[in-house]
Amino acid sequence: MANRVALVMGGGAGTGRAIARAFDRAGAQVVVADIREEGGQETVELIRGQGGHAVYVQADMSVTADVQKAVNTAREEFGALHMACNNAALGIETKPLASISEEEWDRCMSVTLRGVWLSMKYQLPAIEASGGGAIINVASVSGMRGEALQAAYAAAKGGVITLGKSAAVEYARRGVRVNTVCPAGIESGGMQFYLDTLPEDMREKVLNAHAMGRLAAPEEIADAVAYLCSERASFVTGHDLVVDGGLLVRSNVVDL
Ligand SMILES: NC(=O)c1ccc[n+]([C@@H]2O[C@H](COP(=O)([O-])OP(=O)(O)OC[C@H]3O[C@@H](n4cnc5c(N)ncnc54)[C@H](O)[C@@H]3O)[C@@H](O)[C@H]2O)c1
Repeated sequence: MANRVALVMGGGAGTGRAIARAFDRAGAQVVVADIREEGGQETVELIRGQGGHAVYVQADMSVTADVQKAVNTAREEFGALHMACNNAALGIETKPLASISEEEWDRCMSVTLRGVWLSMKYQLPAIEASGGGAIINVASVSGMRGEALQAAYAAAKGGVITLGKSAAVEYARRGVRVNTVCPAGIESGGMQFYLDTLPEDMREKVLNAHAMGRLAAPEEIADAVAYLCSERASFVTGHDLVVDGGLLVRSNVVDL
């Protein structure tokens, strides 16, 4: 990825930071966009500390002007935009579908689904104008099979998956590949937020739901993003790469 420019939306913590660092290790110049300045700046310092090139931009993925600023920062600082990973998302409290308020539903959608569309709206033309590249949206296995007590989040992630397929076809002959990574549980702040809402016995069940009996390290998700952005995935577009430690294929009858 030498001389390539990557943008990470939500690159200021856990998984997003691991993705930004994976782009750096592959030789790319990285724009770290995050709503939280402290985390974003920390990611930039980590990359610069390894001799890499990175810049932070304060951006809320659900705000048009901020998304435009993030894309423009890539062009102004590094002269182009070739790759983008839309990693940020907003979950809401674990509760039954009928108890979700309209405000909670809209808040979840505004970042988790609308934010990905808004980001691609400005990233796609910028990447095309830079000669082509790739976009990776981070969805979730919840968006593939649904998730009881997380209906808004699961619906938003399902939307992210189909949004990626639509974009993949629109841009397939225009030099931009669009793929989705679908993680299950990741060791990150977001997962901790979710686990904290659950009773003790259910937390153990969450780990066991993964056939491997553990959560993903953020780097394991970042490796999937880096692969899909790389030339090794040059014929892969419109794909959902499941990175879930065997959660979707685990049988709830046979316990090995
Ligand atoms: N954590 C999990 O177990 C898990 C499971 C499946 C899918 N995912 C998905 O993986 C992705 C990463 O999740 P994570 O929990 O690892 O979080 P993470 O550790 O990558 O942190 C998310 C970052 O996004 C930033 N952010 C939040 N809202 C933003 C906004 N509106 N605009 C810009 N930045 C914003 C946060 O400040 C934070 O730095 C998300 O899309 C999430 O839905 C996570």
